[in-house]
Amino acid sequence: MGFREDFAWGTATSSYQIEGAVKGEGKGEHIWDVYTKEPGHVFEDHTGETACDHYHRYPEDVKIMKEMGLKAYRFSIDWTRVLPDGYGRVNEKGIAFYNALIDELLDNGIEPYITLYHWELPYEIYKQGGWMNPKIVEWFGEYAKLVAERFSDRVTHYFTVNEPQCFVGLGFLRGEHAPGLKSPLRDTFEMAHNVMKAHGQAVRMLRQYGRQPLVIGYAPTCGMVYPETEKPEDIEAARQAMFALQPDNSNWTWNVSWWSDPVLLGHYPEEGLKRYEPYLPKITEEDMKLISEPIDVYGQNIYNGRCVRMGADGKPEDVKRYAGFPKTAINWPVTPEVLYWGPKFLYERYQKPIYITENGISCHDVISLDGKVHDPNRMDFLARYLHELKRAASEIDLRGYFQWSLMDNFEWAEGYAQRFGLVYVDFRNQQRILKDSAYWYRDVIRENGNNL
Ligand code: FCB
Repeated sequence: MGFREDFAWGTATSSYQIEGAVKGEGKGEHIWDVYTKEPGHVFEDHTGETACDHYHRYPEDVKIMKEMGLKAYRFSIDWTRVLPDGYGRVNEKGIAFYNALIDELLDNGIEPYITLYHWELPYEIYKQGGWMNPKIVEWFGEYAKLVAERFSDRVTHYFTVNEPQCFVGLGFLRGEHAPGLKSPLRDTFEMAHNVMKAHGQAVRMLRQYGRQPLVIGYAPTCGMVYPETEKPEDIEAARQAMFALQPDNSNWTWNVSWWSDPVLLGHYPEEGLKRYEPYLPKITEEDMKLISEPIDVYGQNIYNGRCVRMGADGKPEDVKRYAGFPKTAINWPVTPEVLYWGPKFLYERYQKPIYITENGISCHDVISLDGKVHDPNRMDFLARYLHELKRAASEIDLRGYFQWSLMDNFEWAEGYAQRFGLVYVDFRNQQRILKDSAYWYRDVIRENGNNL
């Protein structure tokens, strides 16, 4: 056993991180457009104004995808490129761009997977309270309806929101991402509730206006947890820790259960309802019904995690990392086990087919004297992670894997300082160079992972 025959081997990107063309094409502004204009927020004040210029170079990029043998490609739509204010007026130029991209992908035998929200809150909506304004649920639904009407004759796979943990946590609680706010806890819980309602509303709209039956999912993230040994008590410790809340409220958004239990199980975790009680908005039965509108698949972005064992007191206990533990260029630990235990625990709890919607590594890649980009660390990382994923694929319903990222791009607050791509982008001249790992991944795809 191993990966299913129709396993979706893909790569992922997001609109602001690659598209560029922020001006002159009828696009509205979103919070990242505005945030990056103000110096001091992003590494060396980089912005996504040009990024990978994918808006103009998408035919070349799809050609590269084809050369890599990708079966699938996950990209996001910039809400403000199609609805400049977030609602109302439609920008036909934006629709035409995504239509052309979709057609190009299909012509090359690559299945498009659309993410609706990869952090680009329309500035117009932000001015009206953003995720705090209950109307955002309708507005996001309107956006999903437009997407369904315009693209779902050809695109069947959708993810609603990407990493709510991150955009609420980093954007509105810790002030490290756009719009750079440190909001009171109460506000962030209300936003989170509205995010999940907006997700539910989008699911309803996609179903109602889809031009054919659609496969709809959600794409949260979080650090995963894996056991030190495969003794039942350590596995149980990892399972408990994986769905536990953060000990520290100032970092509350980093958990799996608060964001996924409502969507998949129809209720918030009991422990959280008690602990967060002073900060919670009014939660109605109708809200929970909307939030748990049935979805078809579960996506999870997985980069790393921590190791636990069962402690003598019957509680999970962290296993300290040894000195010199492997880490990536962005200083994230290398923990391949998460691609086995993560999907396995998620599948057990939520009983939905799983997609790994993102996974990858940043490296200090350079163009070598021979004109190529050699990235042994990335190949080693992917080999280790995919090996674990293969084990999971034999045990659970695993549908696809999207490597982050197709090409080097604008890495949020890190600007262009982090390179996550399988394809190197020279940002001086937009030249693309397939890294060694791109060819390596092509071979994995060709063998459907049997060579892992
Ligand atoms: C995830 C984001 C993605 C990218 C990767 C490295 O948190 O979804 O946009 O930044 O991390």
